[in-house]
Amino acid sequence: MADNRESMASTADLAEAAAACRDLAELEQLRVHWLGKKGMLTVEMQRLGSLDPETRRSVGAGLNRKKTAVQAVLDARRQELQQEHLDRRIRSETVDVTLPGRSGGKGNLHPIRQTLVWIETYFRQMGFEVADGPEIEDDYHNFTALNIPEDHPARAMHDTFYLEGGQVLRTHTSPVQIRYLETHEPPLRMIATGRVYRRDSDLTHTPMFHQVEGLYLDTSASFADLRGLLADFLQSFFGQSDLSVRFRPSYFPFTEPSAEVDVRCVICQGEGCRVCKQTGWLEVLGCGMVHPAVLDGAGVDQERFTGFAFGLGVERLAMLRNGVNDLRLFFENDLRFLRQFS
Ligand code: DAH
Repeated sequence: MADNRESMASTADLAEAAAACRDLAELEQLRVHWLGKKGMLTVEMQRLGSLDPETRRSVGAGLNRKKTAVQAVLDARRQELQQEHLDRRIRSETVDVTLPGRSGGKGNLHPIRQTLVWIETYFRQMGFEVADGPEIEDDYHNFTALNIPEDHPARAMHDTFYLEGGQVLRTHTSPVQIRYLETHEPPLRMIATGRVYRRDSDLTHTPMFHQVEGLYLDTSASFADLRGLLADFLQSFFGQSDLSVRFRPSYFPFTEPSAEVDVRCVICQGEGCRVCKQTGWLEVLGCGMVHPAVLDGAGVDQERFTGFAFGLGVERLAMLRNGVNDLRLFFENDLRFLRQFS
């Protein structure tokens, strides 16, 4: 009887202790205290061996009941604690689907791409098709077909990157003229935009830059048409309808006559500044009437068709239009610079 009372009292203590456990780790400590290898009940069980058989049977049965009762109290509390833990997790991990979403940052086109898009849009409106050509070019399209034969000094001027097998990284977008003529019959108007490569790197030159090439063939295309088109293009591009444009005689192997085109300096309005090297003028374009040798090679009927071509550097135009004074800014991809063009 004494034993039995003691066991009932301690099971009540256990229930109190279990209720006081705040988490599963504390409950585990309590379990070890009662049922572990050196736990209270385990030790009592071990003592059974020293009792006489009669007593052992009744004490043993009491201990077994007690062990079952202890296990039941611990299990019940474990379930409670697990449920509380789960409830807390569900509460803390709820997602409020009604909150406004986090939007991604809005990007913008690179200033060079913006300039290209502007130029393409302008010429499309003028009836030009935008064509494409390979950046890895063969010698024929990059040079020979453009009237730059093997021993021509213009080849040296181009600072070409040569590849194995005689191919080159195109040094200009002019070869697209030739490729276009291979697949199109005049009358035609096309521009080609894209990357070009030269072995040149300093403050004002990068080994890769962008060009736009234009080609116009028609039954009556004249130098006056060329002049009118390019003057309008430059005045639109710089947003100054009265911008002065001048054509200076020049030389390109693939045009005859050839000209370089200057605009009145858009930085100082012709007063003279560092950008125009005090001349008041900025060179922005090369152009001319397509050379008979080029038309010949392309099989164009020169009795019926004449035409003109032009080429320009996109970085230079983008710098002048946006007041950017360092070419390298376009290639460093510093977001503080690029975001100014959004
Ligand atoms: N291909 C020339 C260059 O890279 C630019 C050029 C000049 C293109 C005159 C033309 C042209 O079509 O007529 O410097």
